[in-house]
Amino acid sequence: MADARKPVTLHRLQDMHRSGEKIAMLTCYDASFATLLDEAGVDILLVGDSLGMVLQGEPTTTPVSLASMEYHTRCVARGNRSAWLIGDLPFGSYHASPEQAWHSSLKLMQAGAHMVKLEVSDWAVETVRFLTARGIPVCAHLGFTPQTVSSLGGYKVQGRGEAGELVKAQARAFVQAGAQMLLFEMIPAALAAEITAESAVPVIGIGAGKACSGQVLVLHDMLDVGAGRKPKFVKNFMAGSASIQQAVARYVAEVKAGQFPDDALHAFQ
Ligand code: KIV
Repeated sequence: MADARKPVTLHRLQDMHRSGEKIAMLTCYDASFATLLDEAGVDILLVGDSLGMVLQGEPTTTPVSLASMEYHTRCVARGNRSAWLIGDLPFGSYHASPEQAWHSSLKLMQAGAHMVKLEVSDWAVETVRFLTARGIPVCAHLGFTPQTVSSLGGYKVQGRGEAGELVKAQARAFVQAGAQMLLFEMIPAALAAEITAESAVPVIGIGAGKACSGQVLVLHDMLDVGAGRKPKFVKNFMAGSASIQQAVARYVAEVKAGQFPDDALHAFQ
């Protein structure tokens, strides 16, 4: 029963990573879904800036404001009892300086987040060090980073070939800087498997293969809500489910059993 579940802590997530128990994570933007996902056993709720696309109808996540992220983090925190709650820092809210990142993170933490997520590249190592040294738990989002889709030249797999060494070095640098979680989007499954095997902290994947410590999907994608073609790494869990609750429970069960993702269908080489 959900009421009986102990709060998911950073220590618990670390233990899961070390023991190989898979971590199930989904995006969440409101109190009703927070309760539903928490009761279904989702370990981590991510208030993702994907809300710009799935709630606000924007073409990308770039226009999302810090005020929107703060509002939705507060909504999710009210509905959640035991899941670990991550708030996404939106584009422009942490790039100018570590101090700016601190003030933005504080808003999300005060709205109820337990950790903040930043889309990072080399420039952000000092920012992550600054935040974690001051008590803000950080998830570093690497690989494909949607906020910078324009400069990356579109929705492309990152870290193929020689670029894989750079991604591995970045993973090490962010963990050394204090990041307590890594999230990899759209990198080859074999690369994610190597990084997960050597990582001291949990590695969450989206389009990064089944070897990661855990998986995340955008809620609306896995419930098949919204028009348009879904990315290759998405599975429609509503297909064959009688309710949203059942679809979410199947997602949790398949992640925990290592059945989702199926690398033949949902991963990149
Ligand atoms: O904003 C979001 O939903 C995310 C996921 C794609 C990981 O960052």
